[in-house]
Amino acid sequence: MIGLRVAGTGSFLPERVVTNEDLSRTLDTSDEWIRTRTGIVSRHLLDPDTPPATMGIAAAREAMGRAGLPPDAVELLIVATNVPEELIPGSAPFIAAGLGLHHEPPFFDIKAGCAGFVFAMAVAGAMMASGIARNALIVGIEALSRFVDWGDRKTCVLFGDGAGAVALTAAGEERGILGVSLHGDADKLGLLRIPAGGVRLPASAETVASRKHFLQMKGRGVYQSAVTMMERATLEAAERAGISLADIDWLLPHQANLRIIEALVRRLGFPRDRVLVNIDRVANTSTASIPILLDEAVRAGTIGDGDIVALTAFGAGACYGTVILRW
Ligand SMILES: CC(C)(COP(=O)(O)OP(=O)(O)OC[C@H]1O[C@@H](n2cnc3c(N)ncnc32)[C@H](O)[C@@H]1OP(=O)(O)O)[C@@H](O)C(=O)NCCC(=O)NCCS
Repeated sequence: MIGLRVAGTGSFLPERVVTNEDLSRTLDTSDEWIRTRTGIVSRHLLDPDTPPATMGIAAAREAMGRAGLPPDAVELLIVATNVPEELIPGSAPFIAAGLGLHHEPPFFDIKAGCAGFVFAMAVAGAMMASGIARNALIVGIEALSRFVDWGDRKTCVLFGDGAGAVALTAAGEERGILGVSLHGDADKLGLLRIPAGGVRLPASAETVASRKHFLQMKGRGVYQSAVTMMERATLEAAERAGISLADIDWLLPHQANLRIIEALVRRLGFPRDRVLVNIDRVANTSTASIPILLDEAVRAGTIGDGDIVALTAFGAGACYGTVILRW
């Protein structure tokens, strides 16, 4: 048990909404195909001229405001993202600068595919438990619209942009992280990747011409692994927490595909009405998916004091995991 409190949540979705109908005007796809295969109806996309960090800054400000955490009290900032603001120095320094964290707290990025936010929760919890920080800010932020090939119907329809944040503060043993299960399956690293732009294959005229800077995905392979990964991690985290699945009040799965979520719920035998979903409106926002969902549920009053909440995700790597919290 790691004693901590989610003292505040926040989220930001770009103003521009793009529906399946909008996409079908320029792409060989249809609302019917996207809706029935994925559950997605629309997504928010960031304007090309807006720096993505602004989304994370907005979400973090909201979380800090609700937590009553002023900038100079932040002792740790972790940013979960797959496509950082710049390769060097990543995203965290840009968000720290935007938040005015002038007292030089530690900040860094975590890259763990779409499971990045769940990994960041576990890392922040462990750092808080070890006394490195008494409070922490975690931001999940993604602007994958900049890295999907808008001519590739197999990938581009799936993703949206956004950011979510939580402010954590130290608390007694009555609430906090009850159980964690994190995993990585490197045999599956080929399922989701952006092959060029890193040190293995730096940008060149050839990599641009061959479209290697765009996200490549083996959709069927991801689909098949996702369900068993989240199932394994959730069962393990519950066991480590010493609870049964029936004790979990709310399950917040990564919003990648409604059919994946429904298959997971069936396999776990978990009640569907206790599973939170917003994929229809936001699509897959990668590391931002769970904190956005969490913020919406907190603001709607769905999640209440003492509730047991399970966050589960999978993604590139393949990284996957579940964190179970008592709210
Ligand atoms: C992407 C996904 C929805 C595709 O569904 P699928 O049933 O596996 O579909 P397939 O990729 O086998 O494609 C089936 C057909 O639909 C077509 N198709 C793919 N995308 C399409 C689209 N947007 N519109 C219309 N047709 C489309 C394909 O071209 C293919 O046609 P073909 O048989 O003539 O070649 C599904 O595999 C999935 O959700 N995977 C997981 C993705 C994910 O979670 N990614 C993020 C991880 S964090």
